[in-house]
Amino acid sequence: MNQLDDEHIRPVRIDALAFGGDYNPDQWPEETWHEDIRLMKEAGITMVSLPIFSWPQLEPEPGVYDWGWLDRILDLLHEAGIRIDLATATATPPSWLLRAHPEMAPWDSEGHRLEFGSRQTYCPSSPVWRENVARMTRAMAERYGEHPGLAMWHISNEYGDHVSRCWCPVTAEHFRRWLQDRYGDLDGLNEAWGVNVWGQRYTSWNHIETPRKAPGPVNPTQLLDFERFSSDAMLELFRIEIDVLREITPDIAVTTNFMSMFRDLDYWDFAAVEDVVTDDAYPEPADPTSHVGAALNYGLMRSLKGGRPWLLLESSASATSWRDVNVPKAPGKIRVESLQAVAHGSDAVMFFQWRQAKYGQEKFHSSMLGHRGEKSRSFQETKALGNELKRLEPVRGTRVRSRVALVIDWDSWWGSSAIESLPSQRLQWAQQARAWHRALYALGHPVDTVRATGPFEKYDVVVVPNLYIAETPQAEALRAFVESGGHLVVGPFSGVVDATEKVHDGGAPGPLRDILGVEIDEQWPIADGLAERLAYGGDSLEVLHWAEWIEADADVEVRGAYATGVLDGLPAVTRRTVGAGSAWYVSAILQPEGMLTMFRDVLRACGLPARDDVNVDAEAVTRADDTTDYTFLLNHGASSVAFTLPAPGVDLLTGADSAGVVELGAYGVAVVASPRAASVPFVTINPVKETA
Ligand code: GLA
Repeated sequence: MNQLDDEHIRPVRIDALAFGGDYNPDQWPEETWHEDIRLMKEAGITMVSLPIFSWPQLEPEPGVYDWGWLDRILDLLHEAGIRIDLATATATPPSWLLRAHPEMAPWDSEGHRLEFGSRQTYCPSSPVWRENVARMTRAMAERYGEHPGLAMWHISNEYGDHVSRCWCPVTAEHFRRWLQDRYGDLDGLNEAWGVNVWGQRYTSWNHIETPRKAPGPVNPTQLLDFERFSSDAMLELFRIEIDVLREITPDIAVTTNFMSMFRDLDYWDFAAVEDVVTDDAYPEPADPTSHVGAALNYGLMRSLKGGRPWLLLESSASATSWRDVNVPKAPGKIRVESLQAVAHGSDAVMFFQWRQAKYGQEKFHSSMLGHRGEKSRSFQETKALGNELKRLEPVRGTRVRSRVALVIDWDSWWGSSAIESLPSQRLQWAQQARAWHRALYALGHPVDTVRATGPFEKYDVVVVPNLYIAETPQAEALRAFVESGGHLVVGPFSGVVDATEKVHDGGAPGPLRDILGVEIDEQWPIADGLAERLAYGGDSLEVLHWAEWIEADADVEVRGAYATGVLDGLPAVTRRTVGAGSAWYVSAILQPEGMLTMFRDVLRACGLPARDDVNVDAEAVTRADDTTDYTFLLNHGASSVAFTLPAPGVDLLTGADSAGVVELGAYGVAVVASPRAASVPFVTINPVKETA
């Protein structure tokens, strides 16, 4: 893997916070471009992304290029001082390419070939597609690599958005080669896949298929390997473009835009080969707490490259058009949501898209410049935001301070969700991760994310909502963290199997056993509609869906015990002192209130503060450089909130001094600059007051 160190990371060529959006000038007559540029300048736009879906307009026939229109608009943008996030235009193939090579179309799991007429009609493994992608990327790099407006390369677009898995014969061939690389010979594969169960021994590589509909549950390791393979196949495609760009433009940053916490691609691997992380974020406007999920998504984005700033490359100015019901954003929401991304380490606020489409699939998707033009609310609100962002210039390049990290491990995500035969389908990896994050968020902590092998040194507390697949290197890294004074909290159904899905000798938690000091005798799912209780301190917490029969070592402290049902009296939440730190095990799925009770106890026992008053609308995140803390206070709700800061400072947005208590009305934001404090500033809140 091409792990980049600091020296090799190419900077994005922009000297301001990036503000702008996707720009599709080829959907408009050239007269409109001049109006675009005028309004972009008025709105404070500093960067736009193009020409993402324009391959057919750039190469209308094989080998015949039409660069003229792109030359002209790039020059206009550059003259206006607007930087360019230049797409390689490989997000979707031209029809002539697909018609000449029908075998490059993707197939779904039922064996249907997907037809032209939308976008991304390609199989990620297709050699024809890969050759043509390399050719187009080369043509773009040769033509525009020295364009003075070029800020960075935007490779493809949202890999896997529509097609992340393919079941065509070309993919099956590729899957076999991937398996050969992984296992060497058929004996290795047969051993890894545990084929003696249900008589699946393979005697020829050609007998192996991508996992399809079969008479019954499919081999779990075959399913897991297909997930790994499919992520790797897309990564190979990404690297083909990166290699071309590095050859021709070795100093220009490359990126591909992610889709927040996206199950299908292991973003740790993708981020390792690019220069800057970029993300597309679409919190559901109809969900009043969607900002909580966004906080975890952004925690992932900043962590993918060790805390470096990332760029919010797409978001919506108001409604999307791809949900069943597309609810617009209330006035003020665009601002608070955008500044939330900045709070979490983004050096950009960008939208899909600049000008609202007149036709096509996305004409009802909001844009910065709505159908009403300059008068549109989205233009007025984004313009105000663009101009306000200039005041936040001091935060550019700073990093988020966090004491808590959450382990995200794609192998465990896939392993525990691709498989049909599990103790229960109710323990969902992503739901668990989100529920654990939500509690930490509500208790006042911004949460970074980290791989299961670390690095953990920056953190006081590392939580592992689920590590179904655990191997020795992960256990060793976690043990070293705890021994040196860290605090580890591990969730249910962790340490169950190895990387080939074989249950660890002695059962769960496998290699984590000697850190946690517990053994799981049996997983104990709870039937739908039933609940158990757990006694925690003086509280009684509800347990739904999942419990475990635990036996704990003598040196393990029981913090919470089952209080009902067959498990009554058995440990449920345990804590053990290990070296200078502690290791906790949580065996049950707790409900939101119970999560708060438990994590408040965990945080305080680990020496970290936790809010008494909880209001998920009130968020505080600090970005800092060596001398200054910039504490973002965000009110995501419609009622006012009073935040109490540990130190006074000056609000960058208003210039006002804040004495330590900042009251914010509906969707209010303050960014308080104060001298860098020794420990991460912890902001408390007072109970919500009614808006007058
Ligand atoms: C994605 C794509 C964009 C657009 C938006 C609409 O993020 O990258 O091209 O389709 O969705 O929300």
